[in-house]
Amino acid sequence: MESARNGKTMKQAAKRFIENPDLTKEGFEELIRCADDPETVNALTEEAVRIRRKYYGDKVYTRGLIEFTNYCKNNCYYCGIRRGNLRACRYRLTGEEILDCCAEGYRLGFRTFVLQGGEDRWFTDERMADIIRAIRKKYPDCAITLSIGERSYESYRLFREAGADRYLLRHETANEEHYGKLHPADMSLAVRKLCLYDLKLLGYQVGAGFMVGSPGQTTGCLAEDLVFLKELKPHMVGIGPFIPHHDTAFAGEKAGSVELTLFLLSVIRILLPEVLLPATTALGTLDPQGREKGLAAGANVVMPNLSPLKNRKQYELYDNKICTGEEAAECIGDLERRVAGVGYRLVSERGDACSPAR
Ligand code: 5AD
Repeated sequence: MESARNGKTMKQAAKRFIENPDLTKEGFEELIRCADDPETVNALTEEAVRIRRKYYGDKVYTRGLIEFTNYCKNNCYYCGIRRGNLRACRYRLTGEEILDCCAEGYRLGFRTFVLQGGEDRWFTDERMADIIRAIRKKYPDCAITLSIGERSYESYRLFREAGADRYLLRHETANEEHYGKLHPADMSLAVRKLCLYDLKLLGYQVGAGFMVGSPGQTTGCLAEDLVFLKELKPHMVGIGPFIPHHDTAFAGEKAGSVELTLFLLSVIRILLPEVLLPATTALGTLDPQGREKGLAAGANVVMPNLSPLKNRKQYELYDNKICTGEEAAECIGDLERRVAGVGYRLVSERGDACSPAR
């Protein structure tokens, strides 16, 4: 990453951004080039924490993550569960197993269930809708979040009617050329964006997001990610460092930077003040204190793993993905203590976005 020429330019870019976060691509590029200046980082972190406190106080929301299938019809070059990885040991949970995960989650205090999976055709619209309806019926007080990739407007509508409230679909990168370096030609940024707008239209609380430091990513790409977030105004944004997976074309690539991820978390908090921003598993994987650092940079959500223990290792998006420590739902007590250690408080409520993103 190129550095800004001197400390003065750095501070000015941060100051301008804090006064008016509505920057152009060039403005964001200038801001990101200041990510290695300690004074800039401090100023942005402080502002991010101030905003986070204003809207959310000391609350940290928890979401129980149920990774219910690692079959995937896509072949994203960075991802360990892509179709072309013949070494991945595939599994899919039954409807009953998914409901068991919810029951355990509910007992532990979770009031949001995130059903995440690869794009698995076995889970047809009807099968998905049945599962969603069953969860909705049993847990009327809980939020149901889906994270199952690209589907048609009609499918999204069916899931919404079945009782789904939220949808996570990272855009991965808002730069066309970069998107083409991360995905095969049968996938496109245009379709991804269309899905996100469809989901918004249908009244979902929508989450977008991207990896930090994915191969081929430039400062310009990240600036475009921020411009896109500003346009989409999602309710949630998931970002985490890229981490290579040994069975992918990117096995030999460098991992993304924890510091840059933290910097961008602060920037996103300032850009979208009321956004729900998780301190992600990838951040916790690269740095044992990653999750706490994320919270201290402006994040306000954690997503412990509620998947059955026997399958956790198989949902291997990247190498060394943590899944049995504080990120495990059953260790929620440990996580609670760690969150308290940085001055925040884990809460069990549904935690919808304060108000629809403006
Ligand atoms: N490193 C970091 N994050 C990854 N994801 C997939 N593969 C990797 C990787 N190698 C992220 C993607 C996806 C989310 C479920 O996991 O951003 O949207």
